[in-house]
Amino acid sequence: MRVAGKVVVVTGAGSGIGAALARRFSREGAVAVIVADIDLDAATTVAEGIDGHAFKVDVADEDSNRRLIEDVEAHFGPIHLFCANAGIAFEGDEQTADEEWDRMLGINFKAHVFATRHLIPLWLDRGGGYLLVTASAAGLLSNIGAAQYTVTKHAAVAFAEWISITYGDKGIKVSCLCPQGVRTPMLEQSGKVAELLAETALTADEVASVVVDGLDAERFLILPHPEVADFLLRKAADRDGWIAAMQRLQARLRLSK
Ligand SMILES: NC(=O)c1ccc[n+]([C@@H]2O[C@H](COP(=O)([O-])OP(=O)(O)OC[C@H]3O[C@@H](n4cnc5c(N)ncnc54)[C@H](O)[C@@H]3O)[C@@H](O)[C@H]2O)c1
Repeated sequence: MRVAGKVVVVTGAGSGIGAALARRFSREGAVAVIVADIDLDAATTVAEGIDGHAFKVDVADEDSNRRLIEDVEAHFGPIHLFCANAGIAFEGDEQTADEEWDRMLGINFKAHVFATRHLIPLWLDRGGGYLLVTASAAGLLSNIGAAQYTVTKHAAVAFAEWISITYGDKGIKVSCLCPQGVRTPMLEQSGKVAELLAETALTADEVASVVVDGLDAERFLILPHPEVADFLLRKAADRDGWIAAMQRLQARLRLSK
């Protein structure tokens, strides 16, 4: 799918990868770029720079998703591409408080359920639509020291796959973006994991470029770090060997209990 001439929504577009996607989609000739974020000031700043349209949304709230989709369609017409990109990250384990588990589940996973609950009926009526889910390499592999992030990103990948399988024959396309480190405020706050990923970290603009190629090719898995595909193969071929290697990495980072 080419973005030129399309109505595009990007959540979490006030910063980082989402902002880079919004800017790049604008340069590609999208007819309307909706810059949606819980931080309306940040969204407004990004939107002003690209002649886009800022919207406030809390992706963890179903009603807020519904309002975003309804308002965008009322003002700009059918949404062609919806980028479910907003996400949060923090370190945590099995001892982490339930409220924190729920907060991350809401933003990193349930947001995708809420958005598609309102998008899929519209797209089925029209015979198509495109969903881009920003998950993470952590959704395919694992994130040392971050149980909630690993679990919610696995859920995001699984749900994206399920939507693609279920509605592919109805013209609904899905891509799932799974980067490793990307130089954004999120990575800067990621402590030891950031140190580990720093060497191979990409800029958000580089990721946006890979996304445009992935959308053009209508590829499900968009991997800005191609080595993630090799890691995935190793994991599938020898799960015990892969876990042992991750345990060594964990020990090296001194995050072991
Ligand atoms: N930066 C990385 O290294 C990296 C790697 C892999 C995947 N990702 C994923 O990429 C996506 C974007 O991350 P980023 O690095 O650009 O982070 P970022 O922190 O720079 O931007 C995230 C944006 O999401 C917004 N947001 C947070 N909660 C929200 C909510 N409830 N509703 C609406 N907006 C909300 C924030 O206000 C912020 O503008 C996330 O899903 C993240 O998990 C990031």
